[in-house]
Amino acid sequence: MPEPVLGILTLYLNEAKQLEEKGVYQRMITQGKRIGLDVFVFTPMDVHSSKELIHALVYDPQTGKWSRKWRPFPQMIYDRCRIQRSARFQQLLRFRSKYNHMTFLNRPLRNKWTIHQTFSQKSRFRQHLPETLLYHSSADLLRILKSSPVIYIKPASGTGGRGILRIEKLKDSRGMFDIQGRRQDRRIITPRKVSLSRLNSIVRQWCIGGRFLVQQGIPLRLPGGRFHDYRMLIQKNGQGKWEMTGMAGRIGAARSVTSNLHGGGHAVRAETLLRDWLGSADKADKAMKASEKLGLEAAAFLEDSFGALCELALDLAIDHEGRIYVLEVNPKPAREVFARSGDSETYRKALLRPLEYALWVYKNKNTAPPVSSKTEE
Ligand SMILES: Nc1ncnc2c1ncn2[C@@H]1O[C@H](COP(=O)(O)OP(=O)(O)OP(=O)(O)O)[C@@H](O)[C@H]1O
Ligand SMILES: [Mg+2]
Repeated sequence: MPEPVLGILTLYLNEAKQLEEKGVYQRMITQGKRIGLDVFVFTPMDVHSSKELIHALVYDPQTGKWSRKWRPFPQMIYDRCRIQRSARFQQLLRFRSKYNHMTFLNRPLRNKWTIHQTFSQKSRFRQHLPETLLYHSSADLLRILKSSPVIYIKPASGTGGRGILRIEKLKDSRGMFDIQGRRQDRRIITPRKVSLSRLNSIVRQWCIGGRFLVQQGIPLRLPGGRFHDYRMLIQKNGQGKWEMTGMAGRIGAARSVTSNLHGGGHAVRAETLLRDWLGSADKADKAMKASEKLGLEAAAFLEDSFGALCELALDLAIDHEGRIYVLEVNPKPAREVFARSGDSETYRKALLRPLEYALWVYKNKNTAPPVSSKTEE
């Protein structure tokens, strides 16, 4: 019997047709072979719709070489495409809608604001959301500053810690605010102290040309001065069930208000970081268990709301009292955080799970999750 075929759908990063995660795909193709799943990589640009063929990127683990082969459409698609401002992304949107009837393991999720609003509908999740508003004017800043001495401003469709400001109301110097952050190109801005009227005009400028969120800042500064948070990976397993694959801690670079690895952050074991942060192994264990429960319920809820999903990474903030906040949900998560924290077993599992889930979907095709036609914003 021929093996089931999974196509990894991705986007070229540039005209030179570079791929972001070639090494990851290489491992997935090799793992796929081992468990009886034929995996290839393609982008919408490689699809010849009139011939119903794909000029696919294939990898041969035996020779260790990549090559091109004409392949029929796969039975299942694993969508790894992240937002790009390019014609390639527009082509992807057309591909997704034209081939909407195909079996996608995962459908696009929505922007941060829509996800926030969706979670807010349920009290189960509302208690884990930082207070958040869509920025319209300085009145929104003032509203959150009233209840929270620290606020974050971030793009509604941002990624990788870009375009993020942290604003802190200073206690001792009346009416002054400390501003730190990262520009769209991730460069760290020079920290400064400003008055309220200056703050308002800086934020107005910052938010031109896009939608931005104003969010309650969760206190996450470690004793050494660096900021931290947690990355939790939730995936569907070989039985079609949601499972937590792992959780890692991220510690930001010096002078950085974000903890993203791309911004110079480093990864550590979640257990150790949490134990040091909360003061006991018992408290850390409780927080880990509560995070896992929250993650599993959040994944199931988002799948119900937006259509098929096979994995999600949650960026979690846990304050000194052990309260858990969802900062963000990533539907196309990188898994490098586990390789970097030294948790190679979790890294291995993180690559294998989508493949095992694909096999499950293949065997249970008639009961696979329903398709959704909603598009990414
Ligand atoms: N409300 C907040 N309180 C404290 N820290 C925050 C808050 N929002 C963001 N941060 C810090 O900034 C980082 C980046 O924010 P966020 O995860 O929301 O966006 P992003 O990383 O740019 O998006 P993506 O994860 O999709 O790449 C977080 O990992 C965290 O370190
Ligand atoms: Mg993030």
